[in-house]
Amino acid sequence: MCSQKKVGIIGSGLIGRSWAMLFAGAQYNVYLYDIDEQQIEVALADIGQQLKLLEGNGLLRGSLNANDQYALIKGTTQLKEAVEDAVLIQECVPENLELKRKVWKGIDDIANPNSILSSSTSALLPSTFTDHLKHRKNAIVSHPVNPPYYVPLVELVPAPWTDPDVVKQTRRIMEDIGQTPVSLSKEIVGFGVNRLQYALLNEAINLVSEGIFDVHDIDKVMSDGLGMRYAFLGVLETTHLNAEGFVSYCERYGKMIEGISRDYKPAPKYEGNIVRQVADQLEKSTPLERLQEKRNFRDLGLSKLSLLKKQMSKLF
Ligand code: NAI
Repeated sequence: MCSQKKVGIIGSGLIGRSWAMLFAGAQYNVYLYDIDEQQIEVALADIGQQLKLLEGNGLLRGSLNANDQYALIKGTTQLKEAVEDAVLIQECVPENLELKRKVWKGIDDIANPNSILSSSTSALLPSTFTDHLKHRKNAIVSHPVNPPYYVPLVELVPAPWTDPDVVKQTRRIMEDIGQTPVSLSKEIVGFGVNRLQYALLNEAINLVSEGIFDVHDIDKVMSDGLGMRYAFLGVLETTHLNAEGFVSYCERYGKMIEGISRDYKPAPKYEGNIVRQVADQLEKSTPLERLQEKRNFRDLGLSKLSLLKKQMSKLF
């Protein structure tokens, strides 16, 4: 691995900006590349504003002030400048297989043989867009969760040819910038986050579709119920504490869970009447023109929760 703490961020949209801020917070030299010069200007202005706001609210990460963090981020339209000698190159271009293949080929042609080639993709399997790279053993997916500044999880997904050492190095870098990496042993459709997320989403849609719950009540089951526990314990540890350990939980509740599970309907189709029905109810409480306001509310809540989690982590 290169000794310099330089990272190249490829694509300066929503996720590229978040990565830039996270790396700058940990004092990396950040090169933010985009094909669109205007997009870089917008991104840098937005990052500057976000860092100031975070500082004002006492939420800025790391030990440097907002100005010093901002000074570590350099915008560029020269791919070479972003890629050369970077410890890690984090690709954040739109979720399109052909585009990712093309962008990665361009990076691979000029990348240092030791640079980690990391993609932010939410759903594309790394084997589908890294097979043609000469440095493909350095390729990995580091999938963040939105908004990454407040939600620290990063899923690390190797391709079949990824060097296990690259997984370890990426894990260390993610820890270094204050994220929480989790590693999949091999690629699988949906990775881990979306497999769990969509299991819940499918069941929520089915329950609304059958008229068992309305949209607001099924959402409260998570936000005011299960989600509160899951903010501190995972799905599995929750069961461990709900009985005298996991073995006792399975003895007590295993047959009941198997019975309920046999009642699940297949995954719903995301089209037709049910889409309008759910959208109508959601838009009543959060009209489309107020989505940004609600996102700000979400981010404020998440920032306070992340502070609480930090304090709580010292207790057990
Ligand atoms: P975005 O659309 O906001 O930004 C994409 C950026 O890539 C734009 O600035 C665009 O100008 C730039 N771009 C397009 N073609 C390019 C090229 N050839 N070279 C360099 N830059 C190029 O996209 P967003 O939301 O930031 O997503 C990026 C990646 O992160 C996607 O793979 C997405 O699946 C993933 N992701 C997104 C999350 C989200 O909530 N938005 C969450 C987790 C992952």
